Amino acid sequence: MELREIEAWLREEREEELARLWERADEIRRQSVGEEVHLRGLVEISNRCRRECHYCGLRAGNRQLSRYRMTAEEIMSCAAEAVAYGYGTVVMQAGEDEGITRDWMAGIIRQIRRETPLAVTLSLGERADEDLKAWREAGADRYLLRFETSNRALFEQIHPPLADRRSDRLAILRKLAALGYEIGSGVMIGIPGQTYGDLARDIALFQELDLDMIGVGPFIAHPGTPLGQDGAKFCAPSGEQVPATELMTYKTIALSRLLCPEANIPSTTALATLNLAQGRELGLSRGANIVMPNLTPVAYRADYEIYPAKACIRETAAECRSCLGSRILSIGRTVGKGQGGRRRTLPRRGTHS
Ligand code: 5AD
Ligand code: FES
Repeated sequence: MELREIEAWLREEREEELARLWERADEIRRQSVGEEVHLRGLVEISNRCRRECHYCGLRAGNRQLSRYRMTAEEIMSCAAEAVAYGYGTVVMQAGEDEGITRDWMAGIIRQIRRETPLAVTLSLGERADEDLKAWREAGADRYLLRFETSNRALFEQIHPPLADRRSDRLAILRKLAALGYEIGSGVMIGIPGQTYGDLARDIALFQELDLDMIGVGPFIAHPGTPLGQDGAKFCAPSGEQVPATELMTYKTIALSRLLCPEANIPSTTALATLNLAQGRELGLSRGANIVMPNLTPVAYRADYEIYPAKACIRETAAECRSCLGSRILSIGRTVGKGQGGRRRTLPRRGTHS
């Protein structure tokens, strides 16, 4: 699909045309990844972060948040819960926390791989090559790192670098792929300053990177962040600025499915936050095939506040499991079994099988 066509879909507002888009995305989803919806148990292992992203509530400068880092024992009991609930994957996510050391994390990964049948996904930010390599060797299977926007100038505006290092998420994604990880990335939809052209290029880049996993969700303003306080100041001219809406999120999910038929695409919590009643289901009906039930101990949930009013914040792991299970069944889909990794029909470009 040409960029022009992607952008035209993003601007499309006619209901009959959009119904066609949803149908095509749903059909490709069915053909490429089937009816199973895989569950990934999410454990938010630390909300400590050394970065100052202008959009994110975990930013170091947000002093309103009480900070935690889970112990290895707490993480292992979440992994045991994931097994008990029949999840195939545990996703360990955190801010960019230097207290998560290479060896400590490698030990946890090894223990999970030794004691459970779970696939291990990491989402721990921009880490050194040596960390990524050690964790891969310890048995991690997948890594999630959203590039947030393909517009380099916008990225630099909202994502200050560490003192001495340019932030290059695309280079890290390539590194991860070379190490043998399945790679996931994605963007926020409707960041102040994001144009339709930018979002169209984001989606084209998903395809170019041959992503195994694609996570997208609406930008939700957090009052404890610069963009939450005066995001309006940074908006692109009207007619160019992408709105941070539910509809734009569905369009992005559907187009991602059309361009990346084999990718695993979650119906995200940020989307559910905009529409608690139907968001998850509509995401799944318009291209998505994954959901990520929260396994984080309830005592820590509220402190993992990337954005406010997050869905599923009070539900226990058991409630999250049964809520998502019945939502999946209600739309005629089935709960996936096994690890649910990327099923490739062709080898990754530039590698040999
Ligand atoms: N609104 C929505 N999503 C956000 N993220 C960070 N801050 C926000 C926000 N205010 C997303 C980013 C990040 C992921 C973990 O959460 O895309 O990569
Ligand atoms: Fe930590 Fe954004 S401030 S990931």
